[in-house]
Parts: sequence; C-alpha cells; structure tokens
Amino acid sequence: MDSQVSLRRNGQINIVLSERDKNLDEKNTPMKSNSYDPFLKIDQDFSSFVGMSNLKETVKEIYANMHINSKRERAGLKTQKQVLHMLFKGNPGTGKTTVARKLAKAFYEMEILPKGQFIEAERADLVGEYIGHTAQKTRDLIAKAMGGVLFIDEAYSLGRGGEKDFGKEAIDTLVKHMEDSHNQFILILAGYPREMDEFLTLNPGLTSRFPIVLDFEDYSIDQLVEIARQMAAEREYQLSKEAEWKLRDHLLKQKQTQHYRNFSNARLVRNLIEKAIRKHAVRLMEKNHHTTKELMTITRIDLSID
Ligand SMILES: Nc1ncnc2c1ncn2[C@@H]1O[C@H](COP(=O)(O)OP(=O)(O)OP(=O)(O)O)[C@@H](O)[C@H]1O
Ligand SMILES: [Mg+2]
Repeated sequence: MDSQVSLRRNGQINIVLSERDKNLDEKNTPMKSNSYDPFLKIDQDFSSFVGMSNLKETVKEIYANMHINSKRERAGLKTQKQVLHMLFKGNPGTGKTTVARKLAKAFYEMEILPKGQFIEAERADLVGEYIGHTAQKTRDLIAKAMGGVLFIDEAYSLGRGGEKDFGKEAIDTLVKHMEDSHNQFILILAGYPREMDEFLTLNPGLTSRFPIVLDFEDYSIDQLVEIARQMAAEREYQLSKEAEWKLRDHLLKQKQTQHYRNFSNARLVRNLIEKAIRKHAVRLMEKNHHTTKELMTITRIDLSID
C-alpha cells in the first residue's frame, strides 16, 4: 500500500508501473487466479501428512519462486531457473517414498513439471553387469523420468564397492544428466541419514548439486497416534478410546526397546491398523446384525499387540 501511495505522487513513473502491474496480473500463472490461494491449496494437498512443516514450507517456497520468476520474466527482469534435485534423509517408515510420490503429482499440478510421472528405482535398476551397461541402464531410466521425478531409494548403495564398482558409473551418469537436461526432471536420492551422510562424504561433488535437503524426523508417539487415527478415518474406521491407549502403550514400548533401525515409524502404524481391521472383521462374523458404529469401531481386542 505504501509504495502505491508514494508512487502515485510520482506522476509519470506511477502510470508506467501500475500499467505494468496490471499486465502482469492479467496473465495468470499456473494455479493462480483471484479467488485462488495457492498456499492454501498446498496446505490442503499436504494436510494428510502429519507433522512435516519443513516440507510444506519448502513446497511453498518453490511455488512462490516459480510464480514470481515468471512475473519477473514478463517484466524483463533477470530470472534464475530453480534447481530442484533433492536429498531425503530419514529412518524407515518416515514417509520418504510417499512424499516423493506426492511431490511428483503436486509439481505437475503447479506446472513445475510437464508430466509428473514418478519413477522409483534402486541400485539394481541402475547398475549393470559389464562396462557400459550401467551408463545405458541409467540413461534409460532418466529418459523414462523426463518431465517427472526419478526417485532412487537407498541411494548410498551406489557408493558402496569402491572405485571399481559400477555404482560409481551410475552416479557419474546421473550427475552428467542432472546438469545437461536443465531441470527437466527432478532427481530425489533417499536413504537412512547416517548412510546418506557417509555417501555424500565419499562423493563431495554431489552435495552442491542437491540444493534441497529434507530431513524426515522420527515421529513422536503423539504423531504416530494421530497418523493411526487418520489412517483409520481414511478407511472409515475409528479407534475406541481403549484401543488408542493400547496402541499408545505399544508404540511407546516398541520405541524404547527396538533399535531405531528396526522401528518403522508410520509403516508400523499402518501394519497395525490393517491387521486390526482384519481382526475386527473376524470378530464381527460372530453376529448377524451390526450397527454402523460397530462396523466402524476398532476396539482394544482387535489390536493384537500383546
Ligand atoms: N507424516 C505422515 N502422515 C501420515 N502417514 C504417513 C506419514 N509418513 C508416512 N506415512 C505412511 O507410512 C507408510 C510408510 O511410509 P513410506 O513408505 O513413505 O516411508 P519411507 O520413509 O519411504 O520408508 P523406507 O525407508 O522403509 O522406504 C505409508 O503408508 C505412508 O503413507
Ligand atoms: Mg521408502
């Protein structure tokens, strides 16, 4: 507002600027119209992810950068192409694969990616058996991922085996294409935090090529219970209060006693809920008639976690 008032006092310049602003607003960039709030859309799109405020902020930054860049371009100002390759570090079941899949879709809707396909790969999909085979396999995968996301799980396994291993060839091919193909695909390398850090120290040139690093923290017990509620609700079930207490107790014990590598966070919760749904079904078979509430409610006996 201030700048508008002061501009108005500036006569001619004022007219030129407000004309330009008007032109810029007329051509709407993707996802943007007067009644449309792109940040709200991002919040909604990612609302099913419990926690992860970092992720939501990062997506907003990427969207805003893209949007403002296109306005700058139309105003004849310098723009910079965003490099969006990412590193995901997190323990098992913290949501790395799910988030990567979601980003492919969201970036397609934001017109950041032209196709938005999600290609998931691991070492065996990249590394070949003879000289030249690896580069070919890696190139083929990149070609498949053009316009979308190439997600490489347990990426550190490419760094194992030392100089003579073909994993190194895969990394070199990836790096070459990341730079040559000018952001036409997004490469996401994922893995457990310690292994990923080690992998990056072995390949010092890599870190700077991934401007976006997301740390997927282990979930707190409250977050895991919230995830359980949400998973049940998505399937039109609900947990009784007693079932929730039992689940909470179990998660707490597991977290305290299991090595962090064996505690599979939200995946453990998903498995427990899915098993409870099956137990619930068997329990309900004993009767012929059920209320809707009974059909929906998972009780503590359905959670077989003793
Ligand atoms: N924040 C979250 N909110 C809701 N559900 C979640 C969340 N994080 C993960 N999940 C769910 O947990 C399950 C496991 O997630 P996912 O497979 O993405 O984990 P991961 O980090 O890729 O695990 P791994 O390292 O073992 O491959 C999925 O069903 C996913 O939907
Ligand atoms: Mg995964």
